[in-house]
This record gives sequence, structure tokens and C-alpha cells, in this order.
Amino acid sequence: MYRLRFHQQWLSTVRNEIAAKDISHERPDFWLIGAYLLSTSERTPIGIAGLDEILTGGIPTGRVVLVAGGPGTGKTILSTQFLVNGIRMYRENAVFVSLDENKQHYFAEMTKFGWDLAEFEEQRKFVFVDASPIRNVPGEVRIGKIAIGKRDFSMLSLIETMASAVKGVEARRIVIDPIGALTFQYPELFQRRNAVLDLTEALMGTGATCMMNSELRRATGGEADLGSEVQLEEYLAHGVIVLQTRQIGRSLVRVLLVEKVRVTPVDVQPHPYKITGTGIEVYSKESIF
Ligand SMILES: Nc1ncnc2c1ncn2[C@@H]1O[C@H](COP(=O)(O)OP(=O)(O)OP(=O)(O)O)[C@@H](O)[C@H]1O
Ligand SMILES: [Mg+2]
Repeated sequence: MYRLRFHQQWLSTVRNEIAAKDISHERPDFWLIGAYLLSTSERTPIGIAGLDEILTGGIPTGRVVLVAGGPGTGKTILSTQFLVNGIRMYRENAVFVSLDENKQHYFAEMTKFGWDLAEFEEQRKFVFVDASPIRNVPGEVRIGKIAIGKRDFSMLSLIETMASAVKGVEARRIVIDPIGALTFQYPELFQRRNAVLDLTEALMGTGATCMMNSELRRATGGEADLGSEVQLEEYLAHGVIVLQTRQIGRSLVRVLLVEKVRVTPVDVQPHPYKITGTGIEVYSKESIF
């Protein structure tokens, strides 16, 4: 009998995925292959040729991908490019949730790359959600007679605001920039975990494809500084794109690598990228070694 032979690596990736979902009992290989095919069937292209090539077509539609990198590595630019390309190339509307920059500053910065977000907004293709006030709410908030903690309120109001923005323009792409501004409010790991899980669940509930930006501390030599807090968002996201600056010889090189995309074959080698006047370019054919 003909047996479908699948690369062991994919099967083990699928098994890890299932283990992460706490389905403890064993599944037969045909089930794993089915899950694999299902999960790879639909992709949302970022619209950056080199990066889509590394991701073998894009990020899984309806999933949450983390863009992790130090300050100035281009997280905001990359994620905005994902939204702008969505609108221009794929007729997919977008929501940008900012926990950091205000709208005026963000729009002005992005105009430099030729991205007229105000125009998209007028055309009802783009919504900017200013979620920065969430960081400044008092320790306790009263809704009617019920007092709820600041953290619960932050998360609830973010999820509600985001959901209504997505509904308003029928968005297919969402960005949250940066997630750390929200999760730093949770000192305990389990609280952070629940917060990120709640958010991930809410994002997936919208059906849109999502990017969450996260400022991870990483050594320039490429060694990850993997404190438990740093790993958390990475672990919970469905995929992780890492942006780094590495010292190679005497020069500093911008390096992009895809650490994981669950149940999906991807190129995990580091590749150089550049920030240019029209956005980010990724050189998938070039290696940094
Ligand atoms: N036209 C340009 N050409 C080259 N590099 C540029 C250009 N415009 C901006 N940059 C670079 O882009 C980087 C800022 O990008 P971006 O704001 O997306 O980074 P970030 O990762 O979001 O940073 P932060 O963590 O501070 O939010 C800076 O390093 C800046 O030097
Ligand atoms: Mg930024």
C-alpha cells in the first residue's frame, strides 16, 4: 500500500502544536497530515517579496504573529507596510492599535514612506485606535456599582474598542503596537499569560490576520536574552518574526529571521533586510554568513 511519506520535521512540528493545545492523547499520522494541510491552505501575504518567500507565501490567515525586535529595528514600519499592502494590493481593510505613538505623529512618520494613512482613513479602509490612554487609567475603575481592577479594564476596553473598529471597516488585518505597553501592567507571569491569551483569543475572534509588535531584549550577537517574560508572547503567538541588529565584522547589519510559524514550513535562516525610503526590503536570497 502506498504510504504518504511526510518529512519527520513537519510531523514533529504538528505534534508540538498539538501538545501546546493540551491535547495529550496521541493522534494518528493521517490526522496530523490533515491538520498540516489545513493549516497551510490559506496565507495572508505581507506584500514584501523577500519576506513572503521566507514565509512560503505569507502568514497564516486569521492567526497572530509577533514581530519582535529592539528599538529602531523597524517593527512599526514593517507592520504598517503589512497594513498598507493589504489595502493597496489585496483590498483588505486595516486597523492599527497604538499603545505608544499618537495618531498625528504616527501618520506623519508613515507619510515619509509614501503611505497616506489619512486618505485611507477617509476612504474608510483604515482605522487608527489610540489605545495609549489605557496606560494611564486609575488603579480602580467603576462600571455602575461594580469596581474592577485597572488591568481588567485595560484589557476589556482594548478588546472592545478593537473589535468595534474591526467591525466598522470590516478589517482583515490588525496591528497592535507595542504589546509590551499593555503587558507590563501584569507583574505575575500567569497574569501576563492570561492577558496575552485573552488578547490573542479576541484577535482571532475577529477573523482578521494580526501582527503584535514586541520589544524584545536581544544581544546584538544574535544570542537571545531569553528571560521568561520575554519568551511568553513568543510562545503564545502562532508565529514570530525577529528583527535584529548584528555586528558582522566591523559593520552593523540588520537581520530578519522567522523563528517559528506553527504547523508551517518556513525558512528559519537569518537574512539581511534594509529600511529604505519606501519601507522594508528583505533579501531572502542572501545569507548573513
Ligand atoms: N528613510 C529611511 N531610510 C532608512 N532608515 C530609516 C528611514 N526612516 C526610518 N528609518 C529607520 O527606521 C527605524 C525606526 O523604525 P520603526 O519606528 O519602525 O522602529 P521600531 O522597531 O518600531 O522602534 P521602537 O521600538 O522605538 O518603536 C530607525 O532605526 C530609523 O533609522
Ligand atoms: Mg515602533
